[in-house]
Amino acid sequence: MKKNKKLLSVSITSTSYFDIKKTIDIINKSDADRIHFDVMDGVFVPNITYGMDFISSVKPYSQKFFDVHLMIINPLPYIKSFFVSGSDLISVHIEAKNCLKSLKLIKSLGIKSGVVINPKTSYKKILKYLDFVDEILVMSVEPGFGGQKFIEKVADKVLKISSLVKKKGKNILVQVDGGINFETAKKVFENGANSVVVGSFLFKQKDFNDTVFKIKNM
Ligand code: DX5
Ligand code: ZN
Repeated sequence: MKKNKKLLSVSITSTSYFDIKKTIDIINKSDADRIHFDVMDGVFVPNITYGMDFISSVKPYSQKFFDVHLMIINPLPYIKSFFVSGSDLISVHIEAKNCLKSLKLIKSLGIKSGVVINPKTSYKKILKYLDFVDEILVMSVEPGFGGQKFIEKVADKVLKISSLVKKKGKNILVQVDGGINFETAKKVFENGANSVVVGSFLFKQKDFNDTVFKIKNM
């Protein structure tokens, strides 16, 4: 049986923002499906990255799908600006303020909405969001930094979440974020994930596109 091709979203968090054009060109030339933008506010997570202006400045240089992961304490007032900046998907955390209101607003703007769940949050918490999301982003590291180690017990959570999605008959994509390499990608795909976010592992490889290809065709 032919396996379904998986999606791959490239996290630029561990790359140099000064060299962003070069990085985007590498991603553009590859088979990666998406660019994953980690927006961090220094309150929801202990790190600060960039905001909507950075994303809108990258937008003209890539046709790839813009996957925007908001790690900000109250995303609601900023959803419209992230939409205008060129996001194709905006994901907001269950653990943040106004999650449901934010998801409804994202949907009303006609782009994809995603709910993000932290490693320590019970998978059951996603239940109330299932009618309002196109995607579930399962964190396999504590959010805040690239280059962390995959938290093993999240693999089981991926299985629970993907089974729940199937059982409910929902067309919701399950994407896993943090510490993804060949081994952990294989694990989460086997447990029902449809997509992975890959950052530091990918940029350390000699052949970027060969690595993308291998992960997508696992
Ligand atoms: C963590 C971020 C992840 C991270 C992934 O807060 O949400 O997207 O950048 O990077 P790697 O693949 O290096 O763990
Ligand atoms: Zn992320």
